[in-house]
Amino acid sequence: MPHDAPQTIYLADYTPFTHLVEQVHLVFRLAPDVTRVISRIAFVPNPDAPDGPFFLHGEQLKLIEAKIDGQPVTPELSEAGLTCPVPDGPFTWEAEVEISPQTNTALEGLYMSRAMYCTQCEAEGFRKITYYPDRPDVMAPFTVRIESDLPVLLSNGNPSGRGEGWAEWTDPWPKPAYLFALVAGDLVNHPDRFTTRSGREVELNIWVRPGDEKKCAFGMDALKRSMTWDEETYGREYDLDVFNIVAVDDFNMGAMENKGLNIFNSSAVLASPETSTDANFERIEGIIAHEYFHNWTGNRITCRDWFQLCLKEGLTVFRDQQFTGDMRSRAVKRIDDVLNLRARQFREDNGPLAHPVRPESFVEINNFYTATVYEKGAELIGMLKRLVGDEGYAKALDLYFERHDGDAATIEDWLRVFEDATGRDLSQFKLWYSQAGTPRVRVDEAWSPGAEGGTFSLHFRQETPPTPGQAEKDPLVIPVAVGLLSPNGDEVVPTQVLELTQTSQVFQFEGLATRPVPSILRGFSAPVIVERKTDAKERAFLLAHDTDPFNKWEAGRGLAKDVLTRMVSEGADPAPAYLEALEAMARDESLDPAFRALALRLPSQDDMAQTLFDAGRTPDPLQIHAALRHLRKAVAEHMGSLLSDLYDDMAVHGPYRPDATDAGQRALRQGALALLSLVDEGTRAQAQFEAADNMTEQLGALTCLLEIGAADAALSAFRSQWQSDRLVMDKWFGLQTAHAEPDKAAQVASRLTEDSDFDWKNPNRFRAVIGGLAMNAAGFHTPSGAAYALVADWLIRLDPVNPQTTARMTTAFETWKRYDGDRQGMIRDNLERIAATPGLSRDTTEMVGRILGA
Ligand code: ARG
Ligand code: ZN
Repeated sequence: MPHDAPQTIYLADYTPFTHLVEQVHLVFRLAPDVTRVISRIAFVPNPDAPDGPFFLHGEQLKLIEAKIDGQPVTPELSEAGLTCPVPDGPFTWEAEVEISPQTNTALEGLYMSRAMYCTQCEAEGFRKITYYPDRPDVMAPFTVRIESDLPVLLSNGNPSGRGEGWAEWTDPWPKPAYLFALVAGDLVNHPDRFTTRSGREVELNIWVRPGDEKKCAFGMDALKRSMTWDEETYGREYDLDVFNIVAVDDFNMGAMENKGLNIFNSSAVLASPETSTDANFERIEGIIAHEYFHNWTGNRITCRDWFQLCLKEGLTVFRDQQFTGDMRSRAVKRIDDVLNLRARQFREDNGPLAHPVRPESFVEINNFYTATVYEKGAELIGMLKRLVGDEGYAKALDLYFERHDGDAATIEDWLRVFEDATGRDLSQFKLWYSQAGTPRVRVDEAWSPGAEGGTFSLHFRQETPPTPGQAEKDPLVIPVAVGLLSPNGDEVVPTQVLELTQTSQVFQFEGLATRPVPSILRGFSAPVIVERKTDAKERAFLLAHDTDPFNKWEAGRGLAKDVLTRMVSEGADPAPAYLEALEAMARDESLDPAFRALALRLPSQDDMAQTLFDAGRTPDPLQIHAALRHLRKAVAEHMGSLLSDLYDDMAVHGPYRPDATDAGQRALRQGALALLSLVDEGTRAQAQFEAADNMTEQLGALTCLLEIGAADAALSAFRSQWQSDRLVMDKWFGLQTAHAEPDKAAQVASRLTEDSDFDWKNPNRFRAVIGGLAMNAAGFHTPSGAAYALVADWLIRLDPVNPQTTARMTTAFETWKRYDGDRQGMIRDNLERIAATPGLSRDTTEMVGRILGA
């Protein structure tokens, strides 16, 4: 069959499928090399669809036979699927196909991960299992029979039959094919139960490989807390008798919300104090919640087409962020989320891969599971909530669930429930879904004293820079939360939300006794970049006095960036005022330790590169790296004994618990240790490494030792201890590339790829080494270009095996236009070398083309 040129799919071309599916029945005869899939599907004509040929998606399938109403037919086959003449009315389609799970290294469709069968169908993987209308607006109830001698056989819905060598599952809820799942293996379960508030008894299971059952308790607890939270916060109950989670070692992403059978990357569910860090625990809690919440926002109400992906992902991310905020500290969670948004989404939105939250075209939909769709998508929900208020939000969500349950919905449907529930016109707000790029909001202020008190004015100007395919931008609705402080630190105007709707707008505050200090964009009320002239004095004032925890932290961050900018561009020394402000923060026992830990953390190298670039400079990664080192050392020297006091005081006693309080103390203690290691030659880190009884402290110590180049002995001890734990060994691999000295990083990565435990076909291991190198900014951008070439070589090697992970990792190069001509030239050569690889996947071709700006 000829290779078709990759096609671009457009939102504007949407048409409904010719038929509706009333029922799907599937039989799987599992065998590693030749699995038979037998389907029986009841189709009826779709009264809402225009006439057209009957087409079923199907890729890499071997068709054995096909029948319509029991009569053999001979469909016309292509690379993408089949067409076939069909009766005018309802009919039954039957097909038998062969697939090969064993050789499916792309990890999409039905594949094998270490002797276990599993599936990943979102977005378009079901078409690699059998012929089907593989699109989210075709929803149907499924029954599935699995035939295999393996002891555990799972699919969606409720169990409906079991015998020697087979099991049957029935899912009563109509669903699109992307939510189909099947698992078969030699697995053990960690069981539990949950009673929903209306009294449904639900059996809960986490299924894992024998040996991993001791790592399930935390995930199970997180699941039960998620179920309770969704009942209490959104009024949403679970709707089947069973909820199964399975841990899989080879998985392209974090996890997948298949109806009643969530499949997880084992790194996103397995946890124990000895093997998982505090950050791992928090991530697992968030992902379990995310996938569980999809049962309503994604499964009961799904997406009409893949352009609407943010309908389920933005909303579900927003919901999991709310959940974590409720479980832990809301202020700290908000700062973490903004750090992540800026690190990944702003980076994307300000480079060649910028795209709207609802894209209007794509070549490969897997390339659009992005920070923009997910994280900026979640920010849009947060802005909506701020604009209509908590009550309006609750009313709109109730209406959404009531009106659209069972639907494949659109962003238009979503916005209409807000309009209908609150009476607010959202036509301008809708631009947030179609306009790419991070808006810049410039603020100028004026003060005019008066007899009745003075007037303070804030003048806002908004502008969104051009992005690929979008030269001109319209003004957006931007909710800017603002508060005013008096010079003695009292809050004279509490937080209020100003609504920007025009390019230029002035807001006035009257009757003020003295000129206030404004606190702007409190809580990071919109995903924008604020540009405002300020000075170190004012930032230090806000750091000390702002009542809004986000802006308090933000003031410290601004100070750090100013200091680093001056160190890089003028060779200045670290400003004493900054060191003092930081010290005051670290000392302030009225503040949550987790917050203090965040305040101590300096901006990342990548963040500084973007900051310098935005200020009109060409960032030099080595200079940034050196300035950060210098500043860290200066902070350590300035703080002196405070650090060892903090280190001692923040020790957590008693058995390890992953909760926010203990984790916050450990985070602050780790911040102190990292600084101390720069002045004590790693003595404390070495001692902590040897004494640690939990992974947070063991890995924390190892990181400090790596940073000062004294980790050789610890690295080999760590390896001997954890040789047999794949997830811990991923950390061992990743840490070494991420923390290698800039001039050695490429060499370290290259050596690790020759290690006998470098299983490059496993996405977690590949990402650990190659992704770790890409994250090591100074090492990745080493002037020789060695790291660029190494990453490109490995992407070329991985592409035929696993296009999805390859394409995702090309984003290592997305910031190339920030750098100097030499670096740009070397990166361009490597990107062009990837692009020229014969047979390159559609996924990687699209990504490299977009990064190059072709
Ligand atoms: N829906 C899944 C989640 O957000 C992720 C699926 C990712 N799929 C993909 N092709 N990248 O939980
Ligand atoms: Zn999701």
